[in-house]
Amino acid sequence: MDIGNNERRMLRAMLSNQSKDWTLEELLTETGWSDQVHVAGSGAVLEEAGLVSVNEFRGTAVSLGEEGKRASKEGLLEARIWDWLLSQKAEDRTMAALSSTLKRHEAGPGVGLLKALGVTLESGVLVAGDESQIASEIKKRSEFINSLSDGPVEQPELDEELVSHFSGRKGLIVLEDRVSRKWSLTKQGVKTDISELEDIETIGEVTPELLQSEAWRDAEFKPFDINAPAPTPSGGRPHPMIALIEMIRSIFLEMGFSEIEGDFIQSAGWNMDALFIPQSHPARTMQDTFYLSEPAQVDVDEKYLDLWEKVHEHGHDTGSKGWGLDFDKEESKKSLLRTHTTVNTVRHIAENPDEPCRVFGIGRVFRQESIDRTHLPEFYQIEGIIHEPEANLPMLISTLRTFYSKMGFPDVRVRPAYFPYTEPSVEVDVLWKGEWLELGGSGIFRPEVTEPLGTEWPVCAWGLGLERLAMLILELDDIRELYQPDLERLGRMPIL
Ligand code: PHE
Repeated sequence: MDIGNNERRMLRAMLSNQSKDWTLEELLTETGWSDQVHVAGSGAVLEEAGLVSVNEFRGTAVSLGEEGKRASKEGLLEARIWDWLLSQKAEDRTMAALSSTLKRHEAGPGVGLLKALGVTLESGVLVAGDESQIASEIKKRSEFINSLSDGPVEQPELDEELVSHFSGRKGLIVLEDRVSRKWSLTKQGVKTDISELEDIETIGEVTPELLQSEAWRDAEFKPFDINAPAPTPSGGRPHPMIALIEMIRSIFLEMGFSEIEGDFIQSAGWNMDALFIPQSHPARTMQDTFYLSEPAQVDVDEKYLDLWEKVHEHGHDTGSKGWGLDFDKEESKKSLLRTHTTVNTVRHIAENPDEPCRVFGIGRVFRQESIDRTHLPEFYQIEGIIHEPEANLPMLISTLRTFYSKMGFPDVRVRPAYFPYTEPSVEVDVLWKGEWLELGGSGIFRPEVTEPLGTEWPVCAWGLGLERLAMLILELDDIRELYQPDLERLGRMPIL
């Protein structure tokens, strides 16, 4: 039979009395379960299978209130007073003596209860009327309270008069309307062959031990109920951006690249002049770039300043004519917050001009942008180069394709573009939901860039936007959402 062990257990219990309408309590006792969730869950499965019918009906349940719970432990107030009375000689049953044995707030209500039972107060002494009748009434009441001490009881099962009596007393019982259920076997359920209801060995958890033991080969696996309600785990997790950076890092590492880093603060020389960006370029203005007042200048090796001057002014021996403009070395020394991570790869080549390399870096860059849905003044770039004798454009394109397809974007397109430091230059687009989205720039460094660095090998270079990619992966349409410290929203973002 295609049902789980809990259902088998419940059916076995119900088959012990085939025509019974089972209450929750009865099923808990018969199955040995302590949690009613099992009854409700298995009952629902068995109902679905046509073996059990579940009937709901409304009723009133009676349970103990706070006072009632205390009474079930310490005794009802009237019972305690009665016991005290019986233990005293008739002339010692004074109000004063009684008061001293009770808590302060109990004396008044206690006497009220006794009077109603037929005890009178005669010149300060308590006198009982029909003792045996009083004792039996108190006993009935105590038994009533005790009968509720194991949990709620349906009102019709209780003495009507006592329910109404205790309803009039504060805190002793609570009446609650509720829907209760009863479970009974259907005709088909009654026909179930009990010998088929043995527990089956099912495996609910796939452990490394299980996989190693080979026992899984013949095992039956517990089916998953993907519709079962389950709590949403709220444990800690890395920020989605951190997770994404880790993912990108491992992709480049696995593609054979090494990681490099660099400082946020750079000279305009390394950030721009080394890249053959003319000193008059609009991106170099204060409107686009954050220049620093402290330190206002950074030292730059005179050797490079001389080389850039020649390259920028007339091309030096790169075969280029340069920009034909005066080069200002002071401009090169200005300090700024790097505007792209290309500064890192360029400096890496300058430091290792004779070593072929494939390196990447994921780092923050800074530009004067006004913040909107798609722009931030501070964002990440995924930078990389291939610097080796045989580097070429197809190698660049296939590297980017491989990277993006490992990120889940198999459709990559490149378009001709322009950067002052690459020739050819290409822009990289990925296909997302039927649209081509631009994610970065790339190209082969121009000789004006590479020769002052000390290499004649070609360099494939790229700089890709990280936040744009993150927006696609996390399905966001506002870049700011990535950095808002909204734990709930962050918690709902996919785990990468
Ligand atoms: N530095 C360029 C940018 O910030 C990207 C780029 C890097 C382009 C390397 C070509 C080569 O957009």
